[in-house]
Amino acid sequence: MKTNQTQPSYSDRIDRVRDCLATLMCDALLVTDTRNVRYLTGFTGDSSFLLVSGRDAIILSDGRYDVQLDQQCGSLPRAIRPPQQKIAELTAEVLADSTNKNVAVEAADLTLSAMAELKAASPDTRWVESSGVVEQFRQLKDDYEVGLIRRAAEIAERALEKTLANLTPATTERQFALDLENAMRHDSADGVSFDIIAGFGETGALPHYQPANRALGNHTTLLIDWGACFEGYASDITRTFYRAGASDRFRAAYDAVLEAQLAAIDAIRPGAACRDIDAVARRVLEKHGMADAFLHSLGHGIGLQIHEGPRLAEISTETLEPGMVVTVEPGVYFGGDFGIRIEDDVLVTANGAEVLSGLAKGLDDCRLML
Ligand code: GLY
Ligand code: MN
Repeated sequence: MKTNQTQPSYSDRIDRVRDCLATLMCDALLVTDTRNVRYLTGFTGDSSFLLVSGRDAIILSDGRYDVQLDQQCGSLPRAIRPPQQKIAELTAEVLADSTNKNVAVEAADLTLSAMAELKAASPDTRWVESSGVVEQFRQLKDDYEVGLIRRAAEIAERALEKTLANLTPATTERQFALDLENAMRHDSADGVSFDIIAGFGETGALPHYQPANRALGNHTTLLIDWGACFEGYASDITRTFYRAGASDRFRAAYDAVLEAQLAAIDAIRPGAACRDIDAVARRVLEKHGMADAFLHSLGHGIGLQIHEGPRLAEISTETLEPGMVVTVEPGVYFGGDFGIRIEDDVLVTANGAEVLSGLAKGLDDCRLML
């Protein structure tokens, strides 16, 4: 594994969030998003908040996690609620013991009812909506995180090769997805990074298809979109395979999608506008008369979430920076016939891009002999 094994410095990460408090004009940020709590502390449980103030940080949790908190972030102060206490009430108690009067919350995470509970429990606090405070840092992966994504991609690719080796005309889409998930878990995956998409023939034309009890039979094309989660980090890959009998239309479309993907990857570099990378792929497909069949954006960031910033989309206003990891996944979909998507995970480097997923994707590489 090519990875720098140095564990992240959680206190540095918390310091970076702390530096945002002045801009937010708040005394503290209440981090409620489980992924953000994990990013800032290393704690992998749920139902827990992290309160970051100017001077300290404290995790609010419950008795189920006492031992795990010792193991994963033992030096972090904690407040543990008893079973009869709500987390909003514990939060109010912690705030009452502090000088924090203006508290930012993560608006994208809290439900209206959770916010109402916080307000009811702590009516004297001035609650302020914030968005993307932690997520802006999560977009930029350090070497350790890149190593985990690389591992997640390797696990996914090994598992696909094993699963394809057992594919027969009798295999159903559901069985294929189940076998692929099992293979990833038998390796070292925490689980899947999202529900596997496996479409045989015309179901490949549904970009977010749910596998059914349909056998491969005589279908000549297969679209597989899958990923592993490794120590919390996601990979996300798509390959489209074909068998003898695939049409000339399929082959021509495959070459066009691959050309679009390679051109987009080639355009990735620090400073590039995300919408321009999307446009590169779209222009290639337009040249081949297939722009209307490209039904989605080009890609998205991956990390602790399967979909995170930045987005490679026509409406994106973001700019690429070294350390971002994005998917590049052009696709064309022809209802009732087939779909093609080719997706890789790409690291933005100091000078350009490095593709972290390595499975071969030339037309000849994707021919199945069965
Ligand atoms: N790989 C599925 C998606 O990105 O939506
Ligand atoms: Mn994707």
